[in-house]
Amino acid sequence: MYSKAAASAAPAPSSTSNGQNNWATDTPGPASFDFRSDVVTTPTANMLRAISQCTLLDDVFVEDPTTKSLESFIASLTGHPAALLVLSGTMGNQVALRAHLQGPPHSVLCDHRAHILEWEAGGVASLCGALVKGVVPRNGHHLTLEDVVKNAVVSEDVHACPTRVISLENTLGGTVLPLEECRRIAAWARERGIIMHLDGARLWEAVVAGAGKLEEYCDCFDSVSLCFSKGLGAPIGSIIVGPEAFIKRSRWIRKSIGGGLRQAGVVSAAARVGVEETFLGGKLEQSHKNAKRVAKMWQDLGGKLQYPVETNMVWLDIEDASIDEDRLIEAAEKVGLRMMGGRLVVHYQVSDEALQRLEGLMKEVLGKGRSNGVPNGEVSIPAEDMKINVE
Ligand SMILES: Cc1ncc(COP(=O)(O)O)c(C=O)c1O
Repeated sequence: MYSKAAASAAPAPSSTSNGQNNWATDTPGPASFDFRSDVVTTPTANMLRAISQCTLLDDVFVEDPTTKSLESFIASLTGHPAALLVLSGTMGNQVALRAHLQGPPHSVLCDHRAHILEWEAGGVASLCGALVKGVVPRNGHHLTLEDVVKNAVVSEDVHACPTRVISLENTLGGTVLPLEECRRIAAWARERGIIMHLDGARLWEAVVAGAGKLEEYCDCFDSVSLCFSKGLGAPIGSIIVGPEAFIKRSRWIRKSIGGGLRQAGVVSAAARVGVEETFLGGKLEQSHKNAKRVAKMWQDLGGKLQYPVETNMVWLDIEDASIDEDRLIEAAEKVGLRMMGGRLVVHYQVSDEALQRLEGLMKEVLGKGRSNGVPNGEVSIPAEDMKINVE
């Protein structure tokens, strides 16, 4: 129950555990030693400046200039007619899928490791009443047209649950879905009237890795969801892009699940700085180099990787190295690093000091000079055996 006494006795916390208010300074923030995910990146002083200068009008009334301008900026960057700010990547996917799907019987086809299937609280089932069919890629890396053709349901048989949407994810666990494969799948889907959605929470990373241009990828899809609060460092927000009619319906659905924001400029302003300074400003490139450096450190000590390093994620095969996950997390904590297990996300705020401590940690857990005879660069477990991590 609300108590005035308690409220006055406990002032709102304004600083981190080290006593620093990271808004007030450009010194490394709490994310600099944190490899759990890129969602831990914290907003920058420039984001705070942008927030302090943003417009403060109501976005449910579609009146806020900062938000409208972000939406048209992203629409033009991705080559889609319109865009809609949403609160999170999950909301972006769920609103988009709900906007596309009309009514059962209907199904969504995706990779079996997809975020929409594994990590969105069953939202596609509860919000759309749709069957989600997860497909294991035969190549162990990414879905191909052949996987899609084999598993999509294109049928008017009353027993069937037709595929209405193909939902792809790029990057998926840090690995890149090749542009050419997107094009092949899109051409096949379009001929059959199947809608293409992309969970592009980290599409920025694939683009920076040189896999294709943002517009080229987005051109393969009827809708794309992109996140501002992962590697780009904004505190809140994602965006969906697509045709005007789709965005109009999405606005309605967003409202129905409580995602209509009032003074949304405070979200949009920081998001825009994330796009301009982190993505367009070239900060992600270094994080990819650092990810490769981390992989090399591990492999030089004889460790194996579960996946190739293609963007900002490094999957250490700790099982092969007989390292207990909890022990690794504890050992990391002792040297001031945060980890969730063998998956390391090397975002742009990871400090050089963190990379050095990580090397020391690897030596400790692997035993210096250990060699298991696996040549550098070898990947140990096929992707279909892998469960991709949460965030
Ligand atoms: C690929 C992918 N899509 C969507 C999401 C959901 O994003 P959010 O946590 O903002 O809901 C995540 C979260 O990490 C993700 O990795």
